[in-house]
Amino acid sequence: MKKLNIPRVNLHPASCKYLKLGHPWITDDSYTKKFPQNSFFLIGVDEKSKQEIALILHDPEHKTVKARLWSLDKNEWELNFEEQICQRIKKAIEIRRPLLIERENVFLINAESDQLPGLLIQLLKNEIMIQYYAFFWKKYEHLIVETLKIELPNIDTVWIQERNFDQKKSIRSIEGKSSSDFILSEFKLNYQIKINQHYDFGIYSDMSAIRKAMRPYLEGKKSLLNLFSYTGAFSVFCLNLDFKQVVSVDLSSKYLAWLDENIALNPHLNKENHKSLCMPSEKAMSSLISKGEKFEVIICDPPSASSDGNKISNALKSYENLLLLMLELLDQNNGKIFAYLNTHTISWNKFEEKLKSIVDSSSYKNRIIIGKRFKLSEDCAPLKGFHEGDYLKGFLLEFKK
Ligand SMILES: C[S@@+](CC[C@H](N)C(=O)[O-])C[C@H]1O[C@@H](n2cnc3c(N)ncnc32)[C@H](O)[C@@H]1O
Repeated sequence: MKKLNIPRVNLHPASCKYLKLGHPWITDDSYTKKFPQNSFFLIGVDEKSKQEIALILHDPEHKTVKARLWSLDKNEWELNFEEQICQRIKKAIEIRRPLLIERENVFLINAESDQLPGLLIQLLKNEIMIQYYAFFWKKYEHLIVETLKIELPNIDTVWIQERNFDQKKSIRSIEGKSSSDFILSEFKLNYQIKINQHYDFGIYSDMSAIRKAMRPYLEGKKSLLNLFSYTGAFSVFCLNLDFKQVVSVDLSSKYLAWLDENIALNPHLNKENHKSLCMPSEKAMSSLISKGEKFEVIICDPPSASSDGNKISNALKSYENLLLLMLELLDQNNGKIFAYLNTHTISWNKFEEKLKSIVDSSSYKNRIIIGKRFKLSEDCAPLKGFHEGDYLKGFLLEFKK
């Protein structure tokens, strides 16, 4: 890049402040409307002090995020951009190599956290899933793929998914494949992956590090209620920890059949200890309560908007019913609830306050501890100061001793 040729643009005072604090987005405002339309690189200037503060990548086609931070460090502004992309990719992969020992599913590039804004890349065994949240990566596709293949020579298939540009997710493979089917292992457990056949491909790798962090809290326990189980990653994980009773609940018979495939892929697991309930989580819990069932562990990971077949509710609101039902089902001696929320729009504090207010308005008031937080970590650790990247939040709830 030749710094002299890069257009200077004034930034909103708030953008200047937040860029300096580590927030890497410049969202649509009266200043971004004046950005020169055909410039990819821009130097953001603080209007008041006239200081040049950041090299930013312009994304005029994105609805809300009009530019993303490339560098606050002026020394980097004149370096070769393509070389910087390669270096950042290599650095991100090096950091994650130790994780590849125990997982074949790893986020190799976690967008803003790896200074590759708007670019998410997952390794799924020998396949790669590249997801763009920013249009500008399209023109560097070849370079990204080439660099990945040098770093990870076993890659045989590259999938590209352009996200958030329209509501539909379009997936294509560079090799011209239309779909893919294979088994990968996470913590020595096998999972069936099916790419481009369903809405998602079978495992949420951003939960992998969380599964590992939960393990010490699960060891020694014997019963699990896995609500919103999807393809059963938590069910398989707990069966492997020698749980004697695992109940998985999901609305989708398709995902529950996939869950059965995952159990069968791990022949050492005792499938007699597992049962699926294909129905809304609330209904399943009411039925389990009426049978007098109790669980030592309940995991609740609802989608950000959930449908029970009739009504759509948001996950935070749905906790009003879900949490009380879970408390009814929880073993009062040593039971643990892991309550997750999958959206960046609700802060940690707001989620915690909501859980507390639900408990306080019930007969469980003063009896429950809302304790440890389970956060995105390892390959998915969010960038400090970037709350949009901190989208997955979990709390551990237990009865007071
Ligand atoms: C975010 S995924 C859960 C991911 C899972 N915990 C994992 O780690 O693999 C949400 C799941 O909830 C299911 N679902 C949506 N609404 C539901 C409801 N009301 N009751 C039960 N399951 C529901 C969906 O079919 C989907 O499989």
